Amino acid sequence: MLCDIHHHIVYGVDDGAKSLDVAKQMLHAAARQGVGEICCTSHCTPGYRHFDTDAYFRRLEELQSAAEQEGIDIALFPGMEILYTERTLEYLSSGKAFGLNRSRNVLIEFMPETPFMLIKRAVMDLSNAGYTPVLAHVERYIELTKEKHMLRVKQDGAKLQMNAKTVLDSAALFGNRWTKRVLKNELIDLVASDAHNADKRKCELGDAQKLLEKRLGKERAAFMTNKLPRQLLGR
Ligand SMILES: [Fe+2]
Repeated sequence: MLCDIHHHIVYGVDDGAKSLDVAKQMLHAAARQGVGEICCTSHCTPGYRHFDTDAYFRRLEELQSAAEQEGIDIALFPGMEILYTERTLEYLSSGKAFGLNRSRNVLIEFMPETPFMLIKRAVMDLSNAGYTPVLAHVERYIELTKEKHMLRVKQDGAKLQMNAKTVLDSAALFGNRWTKRVLKNELIDLVASDAHNADKRKCELGDAQKLLEKRLGKERAAFMTNKLPRQLLGR
C-alpha cells in the first residue's frame, strides 16, 4: 500500500475537490492506484486567506466515513500544505497551521520564483524551531532546480518532494533530463500525487511508483512512496 502525503481531497476549502462527489471520486482513484493512506493537505496561506479549520475537520471525518461506507480501504490523516510567509512560524506555534498528521514534519511551499536565499532562510528557521520542512513539488522552484541548492537545503534538514506527474512526464520521448538525473542521484526524497481532482490533476502515485521501480529498483521506489511518507506521518 502506498502512502500519499500531498493530496487536496478535502472539498470546498481550497482549489482541490469542489464537492463531496468529487472527493469520493478521488478516493476511488487513489484506491485504484494502490494508495492506502492519504494525508489531506489543503492549502494554508498564513496571513493571506482565511483557513476554515472547522469545515476542514468536519469534511475530513465525513470523507473517512464515506470511504468506509463504500468499502475503500484508505485511512485519512490531517495535514496542510503551508505557503511560507513571514507569519508561517507564528501560525505553526499557535496551532493555526499544523504538520503532517499533526507532527512536526511540515509540508511547505513557496512561490516559484522565490530567491534561494529566502528558501534557505525558511529551511533554517523551521529547522531551528524544531520542524522538519518537507518542500512540496520541489521541481517548481527555479532556484531549487540547481543541484547544489538542493544539496544545501537537504543538509539543513529539508526533505524534497516531487509530484508523481513530473516523474511520469519524464518517461515521455525527450522527457526532462533534470528529473531523471535528480531521481537517480537520490536528491528527491519522496514522491506524492498533489491530486486536486479525479480528472486532469488526479492521483497517479501508483503509476509513478511502477516507473520508479523500473528505474531505481524496488527498494528505492518503496522508500519514496511508502517508507519515508509513513515515517513523516509518524506511522
Ligand atoms: Fe499541493
